Amino acid sequence: MAVKYSEQSKEFHLFNGQISYILQILPNGAVGNLYFGKRIRHKEDFSYLLEGGSRSLAVYTKERDYFFSPQYSRMEYPCVGTGDFREPAFELRQENGSRITHFQYSSHRIYKGKEKLEGLPALYVEAEPEAESLEIRLTDEALNLDCILKYSIFRDFPAITRSVNFSNRGEERVVLERVLSASVDFADSAYESVQLSGAWARERSVVVRTLEQGLQGIGSRRGSSSAEQNPFLAIKRPYTNERSGEVYGFSLIYSGNHIEQAEVDTCGMTRVQIGIHPDGFEWPLNRGESFQSPEAVLVYSEQGLNGMSQVFHRLYRTRLVRGYWRDRERPILINNWEATGPEFTEEKLVEIAIKGKELGIELFVLDDGWFGNREDDCRGLGDWYVKNMDKLPGGIQGIAEKINGLGMKFGLWFEPEMVNKDSDLYRSHPDWILCPPERTPSPSRNQYVLDFSRSEVVDYIYRMMEAVLSQAPVSYVKWDMNRYMTECYSRAKKPQDQGKVMHQYILGVYGLYERLIQRFPEILFESCSSGGARYDPGMLYYAPQVWTSDDTDAIERIKIQYGTSYVYPLSTMGAHVSEVPNQQVGRVTPFETRANVAMFGVFGYELDLSRLREEEARIVRSQIMFAKRHRRLIMTGDFYRLSSPFQGNDGAWMVVSEDKREALVGWYRISGIPNGGWIRVKLAGLAPERNYILDSDESVLYGGDELMNVGMVIKERELCNSGGDYSSRIYFLKSEE
Ligand code: GLA
Repeated sequence: MAVKYSEQSKEFHLFNGQISYILQILPNGAVGNLYFGKRIRHKEDFSYLLEGGSRSLAVYTKERDYFFSPQYSRMEYPCVGTGDFREPAFELRQENGSRITHFQYSSHRIYKGKEKLEGLPALYVEAEPEAESLEIRLTDEALNLDCILKYSIFRDFPAITRSVNFSNRGEERVVLERVLSASVDFADSAYESVQLSGAWARERSVVVRTLEQGLQGIGSRRGSSSAEQNPFLAIKRPYTNERSGEVYGFSLIYSGNHIEQAEVDTCGMTRVQIGIHPDGFEWPLNRGESFQSPEAVLVYSEQGLNGMSQVFHRLYRTRLVRGYWRDRERPILINNWEATGPEFTEEKLVEIAIKGKELGIELFVLDDGWFGNREDDCRGLGDWYVKNMDKLPGGIQGIAEKINGLGMKFGLWFEPEMVNKDSDLYRSHPDWILCPPERTPSPSRNQYVLDFSRSEVVDYIYRMMEAVLSQAPVSYVKWDMNRYMTECYSRAKKPQDQGKVMHQYILGVYGLYERLIQRFPEILFESCSSGGARYDPGMLYYAPQVWTSDDTDAIERIKIQYGTSYVYPLSTMGAHVSEVPNQQVGRVTPFETRANVAMFGVFGYELDLSRLREEEARIVRSQIMFAKRHRRLIMTGDFYRLSSPFQGNDGAWMVVSEDKREALVGWYRISGIPNGGWIRVKLAGLAPERNYILDSDESVLYGGDELMNVGMVIKERELCNSGGDYSSRIYFLKSEE
């Protein structure tokens, strides 16, 4: 791995064993992209890749010089107004109203390792040799304004991170109106884009479309990364499938408004961009001030979509998730939400916990309803202390100690960013919500968004949370966020600073997380947002796991977890077995199938365990034993998608241990097929030369090559529902010693 600079050709070549990323300082002083893709051997001069020449209507940078035109070049961080008519990567307004800039290379810095981004989540390294970094400083002389393009290349991953920093050394105040994190121009447009789209209870469906001339993209203006569009976009070749073919994945380490787009120009070049959504964003920069964008992660794989996903999984599991829980096995939990809702009694909670303990569960999570006057969703949010002593006579300390006394850990739900009007907090600070004073805020779930761009608001919430968490033995926090943002206006800010609110809000969220993590490093945080509406890499830096979706129906979950796995590792995907008929879709699926799906995630339960019949309790006990036995494999193994539930009636996936000695295969049938054909599923990731034993029949040895090329035979009689609707099976494979 290295970052090389050639003085003579003015080129930077970032490469490791797998990828190359080549930049050049262009004739106008800006930076151009010569190549991003599979590793090529280094040489001093790749300048032939800068193509140019005379074209009608082209805009040039010098008279009589018909070679270089920004519009026909692959620009690395494009500006507006000087001849590149495609989407810009940044835009800034000057005092005279102009948006014209002229940033030119002024210096660069190459260093070992990777520096932190102040106040923002980002990938990290544990030792300097893991990455090498480059900063290219571009300066607009007229404004005395610097734009620093930041890059890091990882030794062990086909991945590059990018971010941008603007800093103002000039007298003039400028207003940043758009600061994307990355923009890459590709030489052609024979690509399809892949995005993860959806809605509440239907998060992260895989959507593929062919790129056409013009602009196509996604984004969120909801104040959070959203259930509707994940901050991720890939472009792949039309022939690329799960296992082979080129794909470039772009992922943004950010939890607020975001935009991802691909623009195909008249010459068939493709510009891919990712960053903070420019709508509503305005960041004034006075002398001495700077602005740091979030970090984008760019992954290249020629091993298809699954290859790309595995890179994201390993990177995010080991170099984004941090702290005490990163490498630890996660506790199997029982959450009371679907069992009791907010109308619980302590007696009922303890009853569920006792049963849970008996079945092998390790963590009891008390969800919504324990705080303030929370009798329903119209009241209580914002008051993070127990007021209703009838519900919890000993407060949180009392219930937590009771649960601990049973030999289980105790976890607690918070929704720190929200407030109900019927709360002590709102009564004493009605001006702490987002909304201009003369307007009426729009309710959603009867709640309002606290202005987390204000430090006094964040401090206040911190103090309340700190008090609860320090007084009671709480081992886990579910941090929920149950509405999108509207009336985004901070009453504490000047008119010219209102465009900062949405980003500062997210920085406020990150800041609160960071303080709590520093104060309680051993608490396991699970991020949640009406299920998976804030499932993004930004959150993973603070919360090692995320509640994947409120939809716990096993069949829906196959799709949701399948789509989520495009970017996010199983170790981050909260997945629980819940009761039937399912609360979201009313479907009745077998107990086994519910667990067979949830097993491929951070496993738990979300139902009234005290009402289980004898037979069901027996099933649950053995599911928990199974989950405990295999959780390290599930958490750290390589994940392979085998058969897409978006494309057919069967879904399948598997996880293989790093040493390829163990594997777990999940196979799922959505609708039963009368008189159907025999089923073989081709496995992946095994060692072809090794022999494996299957738990379904230990008398037979199967070659790894056999299982991957011939396939594993699925026998209908082994399926939990005899091959009928919603049947499934998990197979455990072990290699011979
Ligand atoms: C959200 C979460 C649920 C539950 C409820 C409580 O919808 O996604 O898991 O915590 O809030 O109100």
